[in-house]
Amino acid sequence: MKAFITRQIPEVGLQLLRAAGITVTAHTEKRELSREELTNACLQHDALLSVGGGNKIDAEFLNTCRHLKVVSLMAVGYDNVDVDAAKQLNIPIGHTPGVLSNATADTAFLLMLAVSRKAFYLHNTIARGEWGFFEPTKNLGMELNGRTLGIFGLGKIGATLARKCRGAYDMPVIYHNRGRNEAAERELGAEWVPFDELLHRSDVLSLHAALTPETKGLFDENAFAKMKPSSIFINTARGGMHNELHLLKALQEGRIWGAGLDVTNPEPMDPDHPLLQMPNVAVLPHIGSATVEARNGMAVIAAQNLIAGLKGEPLPHAVKG
Ligand code: GLV
Ligand code: GLV
Repeated sequence: MKAFITRQIPEVGLQLLRAAGITVTAHTEKRELSREELTNACLQHDALLSVGGGNKIDAEFLNTCRHLKVVSLMAVGYDNVDVDAAKQLNIPIGHTPGVLSNATADTAFLLMLAVSRKAFYLHNTIARGEWGFFEPTKNLGMELNGRTLGIFGLGKIGATLARKCRGAYDMPVIYHNRGRNEAAERELGAEWVPFDELLHRSDVLSLHAALTPETKGLFDENAFAKMKPSSIFINTARGGMHNELHLLKALQEGRIWGAGLDVTNPEPMDPDHPLLQMPNVAVLPHIGSATVEARNGMAVIAAQNLIAGLKGEPLPHAVKG
């Protein structure tokens, strides 16, 4: 059996694949494969391990590569996959939930704290030689104690963030999901609220939902207009959920106070983007799961899903769709 991998992955994952007798080819060049290259590679292999969200696993690709026994994503999000088409073709899709929840929640927490103290901006002023004259009323941030954390999409990652924020700052938690998360309500005292109320009441609003037709562009000028002028917007989920021009305008007009982004729209972000010059903004290059622990865990699960798929067994972590 032969598997194609779209990136270099941690050794623990490769070891599992080799131990299962799978011959592995990895694309190790530091560039995204073109659609044609990916298709041609998959035509020579029995399984695909797709890393990150860069490759479109759409109906056309899946139809051309209908011989694939499994598509194993090394990612939790699967907005790059046409799950219905895969189901019709009986190609199981795997993903890697859980193991990256802590790292991703940490990224949201880090952005929240960095924004609240203008940390990234001030770091850059020092690098530019602008440490300057101490003024007691300059560079003031805000404290997070007791502020309300609003979570859009309270799943594993959102619950992990809520736990951290309650522990560190005693933050009350409100959330909006399509359905209730009763376990989180019991454990975290989280309160379900309608979407508009989430916007109105959050001091820190953090996104942890999947990118779907319903959530695409949901955080636009209408949404920002309903938020508090003192609020912080955090997105570590998918850049497609916010309108970046509207976000910039909301910040420039003081409709919201700050923003922390680990995901942008598009990625990479233009280095001249005005958001990068703003004091109350912190941006990271999509590093939510970039810890040794999370990436090793993701590589192991991706390998386990791939091995199960090649054996014709149910995947340990299948995308339900
Ligand atoms: C990264 O964005 C992921 O979905 O794992
Ligand atoms: C991801 O694991 C989530 O459910 O948020």
